[in-house]
Amino acid sequence: MNFVKTTDYDAMSRKAAHIIASQVILKPDCVLGLATGSTPIGAYAELTRMYEAGDLDFSRVHTANLDEYVGLSHDHDQSYHYFMNLHLFSKVGLTADQVNLPDGTAKDAKAECIRYDQTIRALGGVDLQLLGLGHNGHIGFNEPADDFPAGTHLVDLTESTIQANSRLFEKKEDVPRQALTMGIQTIMSAKKILVVVSGADKAPIVKEAFFGPITPRVPASILQLHPDVTIVGDAAAFSQTDL
Ligand code: F6R
Repeated sequence: MNFVKTTDYDAMSRKAAHIIASQVILKPDCVLGLATGSTPIGAYAELTRMYEAGDLDFSRVHTANLDEYVGLSHDHDQSYHYFMNLHLFSKVGLTADQVNLPDGTAKDAKAECIRYDQTIRALGGVDLQLLGLGHNGHIGFNEPADDFPAGTHLVDLTESTIQANSRLFEKKEDVPRQALTMGIQTIMSAKKILVVVSGADKAPIVKEAFFGPITPRVPASILQLHPDVTIVGDAAAFSQTDL
């Protein structure tokens, strides 16, 4: 694993954006795997800045997001469709035919998961997958479990994830209880993986996931087996490591 330590969140965001930008410059028709959550927002803002400066062209890029809540309409302000449109798609000219997310409003969740994996395969797979890291070690919504799930699937969110997400909803009762997520196999099939981590609250899980044993109880620990992973984190997130 390749670790890149930065002073703070802004420097982390710039570094992550530069890595994503290099991918787009080197392969203009690449497939970017994207994440939501608070951590990548700064990187998306930096990509927007590069696009506005005329330094980046997304016209041939396709994207595939990690996950989406079940039951939220695409225009719900907490849906991941809405988030991605707000923070990236609408800012860099990515149009509906270029972007892909699991459809949390699909009547048949199982069929939707199969469709989503087929879509990613039809695109030729993900070139660079961006990931955040949950406090419990989840990636996408692959929560701690007894085994590593394979393809895109329906998950029941854990109490700690519901709790963490509740800050974004008016009431805890409004937080969706289920999500569709790329599976571990889908994520591990990406040619390159970029993880962004920031803040002292992530320090214990950074240590456990990337320096501890590989176990489905800490889903991100599987990334240790991927041949091309870069973890960009600020000093606070790496504070419990020797980096
Ligand atoms: C988001 C996602 C999640 C987040 C993780 C960290 O699409 O799949 O795994 O990356 O929960 O979230 P933040 O960045 O808010 O700490």
